[in-house]
Amino acid sequence: MNICKNWWKEAVVYQIYVRSFKDSNGDGIGDLMGIVEKLDYLKYLGVDVLWLTPVYQSPNCDNGYDISDYRSIMKEFGTMEDFDLLLEESHKRGIKIIMDLVVNHTSDEHEWFVKSRSPEPNPYWNYYIWRDGRDGKAPNNWGSWFSGPAWTYDENRKQYYLHIFAPKQPDLNWDNPQVREEVYSMMRWWLDKGIDGFRMDVIDMISKTEAFPDGEIHGLYGDLAPYCIHGPHAHDYLREMNEKVLSCYDIMTVGETPCVTLEEARKYAGYDRHELGMVFQFEHVELVKGKYGKWSDERFDVRKLKEVLDKWQTGMQGIAWNSLFWSNHDQPRAVSRFGDDGTYRVESAKMLATCLHMLQGTPYIYQGEELGMTNAYFENLSDYRDVESLNAYHELVEELGESHADMMRYLKAISRDNARTPVQWNDGENAGFTDGTPWIAVNRNYRTINAEAQIRDENSVLNYYKRLIALRHEKPVIVYGDYHMLLKEDPDVFAYERTLDGAKLTVICNFADHEVECPLLSNDAEILISNYQDRAQNVLRPFEAVVYETVSLSSCWHLRAAGC
Ligand code: GLC
Ligand code: CA
Repeated sequence: MNICKNWWKEAVVYQIYVRSFKDSNGDGIGDLMGIVEKLDYLKYLGVDVLWLTPVYQSPNCDNGYDISDYRSIMKEFGTMEDFDLLLEESHKRGIKIIMDLVVNHTSDEHEWFVKSRSPEPNPYWNYYIWRDGRDGKAPNNWGSWFSGPAWTYDENRKQYYLHIFAPKQPDLNWDNPQVREEVYSMMRWWLDKGIDGFRMDVIDMISKTEAFPDGEIHGLYGDLAPYCIHGPHAHDYLREMNEKVLSCYDIMTVGETPCVTLEEARKYAGYDRHELGMVFQFEHVELVKGKYGKWSDERFDVRKLKEVLDKWQTGMQGIAWNSLFWSNHDQPRAVSRFGDDGTYRVESAKMLATCLHMLQGTPYIYQGEELGMTNAYFENLSDYRDVESLNAYHELVEELGESHADMMRYLKAISRDNARTPVQWNDGENAGFTDGTPWIAVNRNYRTINAEAQIRDENSVLNYYKRLIALRHEKPVIVYGDYHMLLKEDPDVFAYERTLDGAKLTVICNFADHEVECPLLSNDAEILISNYQDRAQNVLRPFEAVVYETVSLSSCWHLRAAGC
């Protein structure tokens, strides 16, 4: 398969949730200077790109995903000088930076919205999605993704505005060409500063249907998804953005596209489509659905996971580039969800890393994942900070009759705060994250799970990630090789092959917490990497991962002929 080479296909991206990464000034909140302090750690790990979650000015109703000024830095995170320094220091170390672009909505405190809600017509009147009520009620029955209705009445303007997320996150009206131009000019402003690309928040929601019909009722409200996702002009607007902005720079772009299907993803990220470099799909992190969507603590099914991963690998091959992730700031911790955060924490964290990093696509590491950090398992509702979790608790328990105990179990399994506890740097107070009081509690297991201890231990999860990343930089087959699934019917083992010009990798991952037989095991094959110290005999051990490498004779000749 001929894939065009790009630096971002060869890269490993590290996601930084700034608020929880490292606090440099003792106010309990991670900040830009904290990242600067840890650049050498990131260099040690070997990652190529940092994705910063939003660092712009924000009232923080949704931790920065509600922006009130796109051209200034959130006060708690530092200053524009800090940002410039971070960019410069990262570039000095050969590390690129991409920013979160949150342009489906702004904060209600953004100047555009403040002007838009004025009773007098003005240039900002059509910057948001305003509608009259219906019989004294909201324009339709849609529910917001953060609980409650998706429409809020504005007393000033005497109309309702649409917000897919919280009322403090009004949706921009992308059908207004002025809005699009504002966004493009802001993007150019950041790109001209020298940033290396964007992760685009809920970018498949920017175009809404023209009519606003009621949605099918789920829980208390109607479902807006069919009318707000992949709307009629989503692709047109992205092509326009590509033509006017993205294509003028050598950057990477990744769209966050909730509910995206394979068919749509091929359009957003298709090699010949001139839209985005890649998208995040979520099927593998949405395998479990409860009565009320994500709120459940059921464990995933390995067969379903394999099916979904294979579908995306095969379905995108030759057409579009995959992005690979187990976790992010909206998901629980990978090892708690897909591995075992008890007895086999180390083994399963390494197995998951192997499985993901050997697939075709660009891997994303979510901060702390490289340490095998686990879910927070908060005991009290008052420990939670996340607007989605807190709103859902109130809606499910107070309005829909779920019990407190059930909801607390769901939160422990799936709440976004599981991944938002501070990065565990050392075994000192607050895990070395802050000298003050952390904005969200540190996970109690920081004395055993922390970066300092793992740097010293050559068998740590951290040093395993370091090796995986280094391998990607050495072996083109990891990046550009074709993918082919093996052992399709196996209920526990996910195995696949990658091939490129006579080089072949056989990747074998046991998702079970017990031994399983595996016909692919070999006594003579060369092991490229494995999470157990010694070679597997006839069976795979709990969460064992092994990658064999074979180089065919013809490719050796090819190398010799090339003078290697
Ligand atoms: C995306 C972000 C999430 C945020 C939401 C609204 O899904 O990843 O954290 O709450 O968009 O901006
Ligand atoms: Ca701080």
